[in-house]
Amino acid sequence: MTMVIKRSAATKLRNLLALSGAGTVVFTGICVYKENAKFYSSVIMPTMHKILEPETAHNLAVTTLERRLLPKSKFKDPENLSVNVFGLKFSNPVGIAAGFDKDARAACGLWDIGFGFVEVGSVTPRPQPGNDQPRLFRLSEDQGVINRFGFNSEGHDVVLARVKAIKAANPKAILGVNLGKNRTSPDAAQDYAQGVKVFGPLADYLVINVSSPNTPGLRSLQGREELKKIIGTALEARSQMTRKVPILLKVAPDLSEDDREDIALVVNTKEWQIDGLIVSNTTTSRPKNLESKWQAESGGLSGRPLREKSTQTIREFYKLTQGKIPIIGVGGIFNGSDAIEKMQAGASLIQIYSAMAFEGPPVVTTIKAELSRAMAHNQVDSLVELIGSDHRMQ
Ligand SMILES: Cc1cc2nc3c(=O)[nH]c(=O)nc-3n(C[C@H](O)[C@H](O)[C@H](O)COP(=O)(O)O)c2cc1C
Repeated sequence: MTMVIKRSAATKLRNLLALSGAGTVVFTGICVYKENAKFYSSVIMPTMHKILEPETAHNLAVTTLERRLLPKSKFKDPENLSVNVFGLKFSNPVGIAAGFDKDARAACGLWDIGFGFVEVGSVTPRPQPGNDQPRLFRLSEDQGVINRFGFNSEGHDVVLARVKAIKAANPKAILGVNLGKNRTSPDAAQDYAQGVKVFGPLADYLVINVSSPNTPGLRSLQGREELKKIIGTALEARSQMTRKVPILLKVAPDLSEDDREDIALVVNTKEWQIDGLIVSNTTTSRPKNLESKWQAESGGLSGRPLREKSTQTIREFYKLTQGKIPIIGVGGIFNGSDAIEKMQAGASLIQIYSAMAFEGPPVVTTIKAELSRAMAHNQVDSLVELIGSDHRMQ
């Protein structure tokens, strides 16, 4: 008799557990389907962070997007978010920054969740493994990330095949390709020029990335003479092509005033005039108020602790280029007001990366909705009115 009672109690308990398990799965499914931002930032992402190492979690995110397992965003881009830059029409100004999808696997999934443009890479000419693991650290208390990936890349050939397929299936979606150099390459200018030749016929824009802190000597390519050589060689490669693909330069936030003036001097000159700047890459600096135990890890810091520094660098470059060279602003953007801050400082478009790690995919819709709402509230009809407005007020 007692055996029967025990068994039926155990069965009940099992059923209860199965039911609540199924309930949790259904509830999570509904929250994912409904792009529930709060559920992502307070349940899904913290749970992921508890159970998965940062690089494993990142790979899982890329695979999920590659297989298009997330529902398409139901947010329809309002007309006030559309903007024309580099001769391209963006339905919204929010892009995914380089480094999230280094090998062009997840572009379609990233457009699905609402990004106005996707930048893949950095891609190096030859495949290379990057630095040893661990090389990615979450600074949860600071909402920051430190990485020292060191350009792990499947290389031009593999990425080119993917970019071809992606563009053939999505000719209208905007895809940028961020170019890197191989760690052991003796000639950086040739590596970038090769990238221009390989991806120029397909990409909507290209980025010369001379600002990642994890490839020895890379950031010194931001010096005046090195830059002339790199940009000159890249522009020469482009001039031999039938299509004039926009070429952008991505810079670091750790530049001195002299460094910034040198860069501006080069890109303001017709011979080396590029089509845009991306400001900024990660920082090697460590603000004093960081709390995370990972803060002493070497590598580039991104996320909230980078926000102010990046905005300040955008402001400086906008001034130095008299607002004539469009800027993509990136660094510590988590919400609509961060996006507005970057645009008022001079950014025509913005990108995010670290916010995806803490807030998950709904952050894209959150930024767009908050930006659009704030514009309507302040009777700003077009992003053009916002871009660089700080400078017009002075
Ligand atoms: C893990 C990781 C990898 C990155 N890899 C690249 C890269 O390969 N090329 C590049 O130009 N920037 C790379 N970045 C820099 C980002 O594109 C971006 O400039 C920076 O993270 C600041 O934006 P955020 O604060 O929104 O993350 C990487 C950033 C992170 C966090």
